[in-house]
Amino acid sequence: MSLTFTLDPAVTPALRDGILDLWTDVSNAGGAVGFVPPVTREAIRPEVVRYFAQMAEGRTRLLVGHDDTGEVAATAFFTFNTHRLMTHWAWLYTVMVHPWHQGKGYGRDLLTAAERAARTIDGIEAIRLTCRGGLGLERFYGSCGYKEVGRIPGAIRVAPGEDRDDVIMLLPLV
Ligand SMILES: CC(C)(COP(=O)(O)OP(=O)(O)OC[C@H]1O[C@@H](n2cnc3c(N)ncnc32)[C@H](O)[C@@H]1OP(=O)(O)O)[C@@H](O)C(=O)NCCC(=O)NCCS
Repeated sequence: MSLTFTLDPAVTPALRDGILDLWTDVSNAGGAVGFVPPVTREAIRPEVVRYFAQMAEGRTRLLVGHDDTGEVAATAFFTFNTHRLMTHWAWLYTVMVHPWHQGKGYGRDLLTAAERAARTIDGIEAIRLTCRGGLGLERFYGSCGYKEVGRIPGAIRVAPGEDRDDVIMLLPLV
């Protein structure tokens, strides 16, 4: 089995609900995508709505992976800078693979698809992202060609007294 990746999929209620389920399941499995468990779909819904609004404005583009049953199994969101001197690179946010599907190479497939997609976007010369330290994610992104270019110690507070580094990773495309 493999995932089928689509940039700019048709926006439907099924897509929205699929992303909401994916994000909730990933978060409750301990994934580092903006929340700490336990988290409900209702807590995550405003973030999904925010992404869809940005997509409608063209400020964000979604790369989605579907499994062979048609379920949403992976996402990555490109966000573009409004700062006029920073339009030559894009952010990649909310990189996630459903816990059922993790560890089978789909995360790497997702980042390969993201790199390929970014190369089709006019003027984009690098992908930048941040990840939570302490989970080995730098190794994952490193295996996909990203380099650690910065680290803000303790910038992410997952619980009182439990701080994690915010790690900045970069993939140059030129
Ligand atoms: C991080 C994530 C996208 C990786 O996807 P995946 O499908 O599990 O990863 P793959 O199977 O493609 O693994 C690719 C490589 O990265 C490694 N890897 C994957 N997740 C890792 C992790 N959390 N820590 C360290 N290494 C990891 C794998 O061991 C593999 O290396 P190998 O080829 O040397 O064995 C996925 O685990 C996930 O969604 N996690 C929860 C959400 C999250 O934390 N996202 C990151 C936001 S910054």
